[in-house]
Amino acid sequence: MSEPMKPINVVVTGAAGQIAYSLLYQLAAGTVFGPDQPINLHLLDIPVMMKVLEGVVMELEDLALPLLREIVPTADPAVAFKDVAAAFLVGAMPRKEGMERKDLLAANVEIFKVQGEALDKYAKKDVKILVVGNPANTNALICSHYAPSIPKQNFSAMTRLDQNRAQAALAARLNVQVDQVKKVIIWGNHSSTQYPDAAHATVTVQGSTKSVPAALNQDNWLQTTFVETIQKRGAAVIAARKMSSAMSAAKAAGDHMRDWWMGTKPGEYVSMAVFSDGSYGIPENIVFSFPVTIEPHGQYKIVQGLPISEFARSKLTVTANELEEERAEAYKVLQKK
Ligand code: NAD
Ligand code: LMR
Repeated sequence: MSEPMKPINVVVTGAAGQIAYSLLYQLAAGTVFGPDQPINLHLLDIPVMMKVLEGVVMELEDLALPLLREIVPTADPAVAFKDVAAAFLVGAMPRKEGMERKDLLAANVEIFKVQGEALDKYAKKDVKILVVGNPANTNALICSHYAPSIPKQNFSAMTRLDQNRAQAALAARLNVQVDQVKKVIIWGNHSSTQYPDAAHATVTVQGSTKSVPAALNQDNWLQTTFVETIQKRGAAVIAARKMSSAMSAAKAAGDHMRDWWMGTKPGEYVSMAVFSDGSYGIPENIVFSFPVTIEPHGQYKIVQGLPISEFARSKLTVTANELEEERAEAYKVLQKK
C-alpha cells in the first residue's frame, strides 16, 4: 500500500471575497490538486474582513470534506504565505461598469508588491503562483519583480476564463457540446486588447475532427463578432450583474491550477499568461498569454511553430504594446508611493 500523501499549504488571497467563495469549495473537494492530495488552506484578507472570513471558515468546516486539513484565516502575509506550494492571488479591487481593468493599476499594484515580498520570504521556492486580481498580467509581473528568489516561470496570470468563454461561444455557434471544441487560444493581455484566436481550434462532430475555421466557413465572424464578444465579455457580465464575474472566474482559476499541477491532456494545449521568452516575436519581460502544454508536475512549455497570419500579427502587436504601457505605468505608480 502506498503512503498517504502529506498535506500541501495553499494560500488564497481575497479569501472573504466573491471569487474565493466559489473557489474554496473546489480546492477543498480535491478537483484541483487531485482526489488524494490533502491541503491546508491559508486564507488571507484585510483586517476589516476578518469577521466575514470567520463565516467562510465555519462554512468550510461544515463542508465535512476529508482532504481539507488545517484552515488558517489571517490578515498577516507572513502567516498566509508560509511554506505555500500554490498561491491564488485573488484579493484586489474589482472594476465597476465603465472602467477598463488597467484603471485598477493604481489601486491594486501595491498589493502585488507586498505579496511578492511575502512570497519571496515565506513561500516554497517552487510555489506555483496564479494571479487573478486585475490587471492580472501586470500584477503578476510586479509580484515577480518583488520575489527575485522565485523563478519567473512560477508566476502566471489568468486568461483561462477568456479561453473558457471562447470555447463556449464557438461550441454554441457550431451547435456542439462545449468539450468538442479544443485548442482555442487567448493571446496577450486579460483586457479588451486580448486576441481570442480560433484559427488553430478544432471541432469534433460525430467522431470526425476538423478545423473550426473550415467548419464555420465564416472568417469574417471569427475576426469580428467572435473577437469582440470575448474581449468584452467581462464588461457584459458587470453590466448585467453589477458585479464582476465570480463563479466562472473561480472555475477558470481551478482549471488553470489543475492543468499546471496535473498536466495538460495529450495533444491539447491551454492558455496561460506567463513571462514572454520572445516566442512569436513578443517582447520579453511582459506577462503575455500564450498556448502552453504542461507535463504532470512539470513546467509549462510555450507551444512553438504555430503559423501567425497578418491579421493575427496585428492583434498580437496591439496587446503586447498595451502590456508594455501597463508595465511603465505600474513602475511609475510604485515610484510615487
Ligand atoms: P471582491 O471585492 O468580492 O473580493 C476581493 C477581496 O480581496 C475582498 O475580500 C477584499 O477585502 C480582499 N482584499 C483587498 N485587498 C487585499 C489585500 N491586500 N490582501 C488580501 N485581500 C485583499 O472581488 P472579486 O470579485 O473576488 O474579484 C477579485 C479580483 O479578481 C478583482 O481584481 C477582479 O477584477 C479580478 N478578476 C479577475 C478575473 C480574471 O479573469 N483574471 C476574473 C474575475 C475577476
Ligand atoms: C472578467 O473578465 O470577468 C474579470 O476580469 C472581471 C472584469 O473586470 O471584467
